Amino acid sequence: MKRRNFLLGSAAVVAGAAAVTWLPGVAGRPTIDDVPIPPAQPRRAAVVWFSQTGHTRRIGQWIARLWQAQGLDVVASDYRQFDRAQMPAFDLIVLGSPVNYFEAPGHFQTWIDSLPPLAGTRVAAYVTFGGEGGNTFNAASGLLDRMAGRGAQPVDLALFGNMSTFAPTWSLGNEARILAYRHLPDAGTWASVRRFADGVLERVRTGNGIAVPRDWNTRELIKGTPSIAGTKLLIGGHAVDADTCSECGTCVGACPVGAIDAASRAVDTSRCVACLGCVNTCPTGAMKMRFLGTPVYGFTEFLRRNAITIAEPPAAG
Ligand SMILES: Cc1cc2nc3c(=O)[nH]c(=O)nc-3n(C[C@H](O)[C@H](O)[C@H](O)COP(=O)(O)O)c2cc1C
Ligand code: SF4
Ligand code: SF4
Repeated sequence: MKRRNFLLGSAAVVAGAAAVTWLPGVAGRPTIDDVPIPPAQPRRAAVVWFSQTGHTRRIGQWIARLWQAQGLDVVASDYRQFDRAQMPAFDLIVLGSPVNYFEAPGHFQTWIDSLPPLAGTRVAAYVTFGGEGGNTFNAASGLLDRMAGRGAQPVDLALFGNMSTFAPTWSLGNEARILAYRHLPDAGTWASVRRFADGVLERVRTGNGIAVPRDWNTRELIKGTPSIAGTKLLIGGHAVDADTCSECGTCVGACPVGAIDAASRAVDTSRCVACLGCVNTCPTGAMKMRFLGTPVYGFTEFLRRNAITIAEPPAAG
């Protein structure tokens, strides 16, 4: 049975990142083919995400709480704190990721490829995004594809829009493009997440898997490495200002590729993948960066300047 990807309709379509290196694309809405699988009663679930500025984490934590409220034993964590050897102990896994440069970040993909065999484990995936039509569908289905490569059985995927965290956008003066979505996540987001969480359980219990779908669009050609390389050409002055650095270590923890030295906080720009995590989370603004010559300020500072506090998910129940 074919079904439209209704999840695309329920996700907010959000304008986000600066389009300097981002070509226009056509956001497709592929159909998803159902695949009959043996019905199962999930008991132990893992919700595992990568998140730098909290959007993806909030949704993962909400899914975990919803499932705990339904009696499942759930472990929820950023992948960097998750013991991959434990993965086969779960009968249901949900992976969450931001869309960065039109795909789930390469370091998260590499981690998935390093998981132990997961024969038959049910898996679902979601992405959070802040750019209009930025290959979001394929970013989510790509996570499922990789999990299928470990032997897991995909059952569903979802996309959730919110404010973009691509700091050059507001730093170069396009605050309005981001602020248009300052209300997200809202009640509609949490309702969509609840539908996704309930739907995944229902599909596992009734024996409905999916064949991993792909949406062909031009951004497939520039996702990941070429976009990162193009962005890095526009970045300069990426270094810590010792005078304002509080030596809190947040940037070191945020960097997914170990490009910031823990002792000196020197940035190895050759290793950097331009994820902006350090700039976005530095509490003092000491992590400096210029984009096209203009100083970039991070998401923490953007929220402060605009008096925005992002709401945590409501209580499960
Ligand atoms: C370096 C970078 C690249 C991004 N690239 C995209 C993109 O290609 N498409 C998109 O829709 N959003 C993009 N975004 C926006 C993020 O996907 C979005 O804000 C996400 O929800 C952040 O999740 P987090 O708060 O869990 O880290 C990008 C953000 C950053 C920082
Ligand atoms: S140094 Fe580069 S890769 Fe590391 S957090 Fe900063 S922007 Fe991301
Ligand atoms: S996050 Fe900012 S203040 Fe903290 S160690 Fe890094 S540069 Fe210094």
